[in-house]
Order: sequence, then structure tokens, then C-alpha cells
Amino acid sequence: MIKWTQHYALGVHTLDRQHRELFRRMNRLGEQLNVDASKELVDELLRFLLVYVDVHFNEEEQFMQLHEYPHLEEHRQAHADFVQRVEQFMHEDRDRYSQEELRSLVVDWISTHVLRADLDFGRYLETRSVTCI
Ligand SMILES: [Fe+2]
Ligand SMILES: [Fe+2]
Repeated sequence: MIKWTQHYALGVHTLDRQHRELFRRMNRLGEQLNVDASKELVDELLRFLLVYVDVHFNEEEQFMQLHEYPHLEEHRQAHADFVQRVEQFMHEDRDRYSQEELRSLVVDWISTHVLRADLDFGRYLETRSVTCI
């Protein structure tokens, strides 16, 4: 279980709200992992997560574009790589996932990405005196 706290806040309300929802979906995945879930169930939860990831990544990229964020392209690439890795993983022919690989694939990636790359964008907005969107 990984809790969204103020440490993850960018100061952009829409994106912060979406990050909280992402963490909520990630935790639902985490709960299932504790009971040695089947691939079928995990895939379903991954799809549920990806639907939201898609909405969020798009909106975040639009914000970046709107505010002329200079690292938009590399950020967009990081988002696309993540989605591609998860999709590849779901296409693998196997019965189970290990908790460890899912943790590093999903939980570690999302929390690190929000803490580093997304917060960099938050700091960029601060330098441009953009607050409370
Ligand atoms: Fe984000
Ligand atoms: Fe991002």
C-alpha cells in the first residue's frame, strides 16, 4: 500500500487529484497481489489502471504544452514507454505474475515518476508563477 501524501503534490489541483486516483487504482492492484492472483485477474486490474493512466497522461501532456514545458517530449516518451511495457507484459503467455515484478513494473515506476518527473514540472510552473490551476 502506497499512500498519496503532500510530498507528491505538484500544486496543480487537477493533476494532483488524478495522481490520487492513480494511487488508489495501484493499491487495488497491490491488494490482489497479496492473495497470489491469477494472470486473468491481474490483467483486468492492469487494464483498469491503464484506462486511467491514458486519461491522466493525456491531460498532463496538454498542461505541459499549454505552459510550454521544455521537457515535454522526453516526458511524453516516458509515458509512452510505460504503457508499452505494461501492454507487453500483459501479452506474455503465462499463468501468474510475481508480486515483485509487478511492484517494479507498476508501483515503483508510477511513484518514482510522480515524485521526480512530474514534480519537476510542478517546480517549472512555480518558476513561471503559475499557481492553483
Ligand atoms: Fe502524472
Ligand atoms: Fe508524468
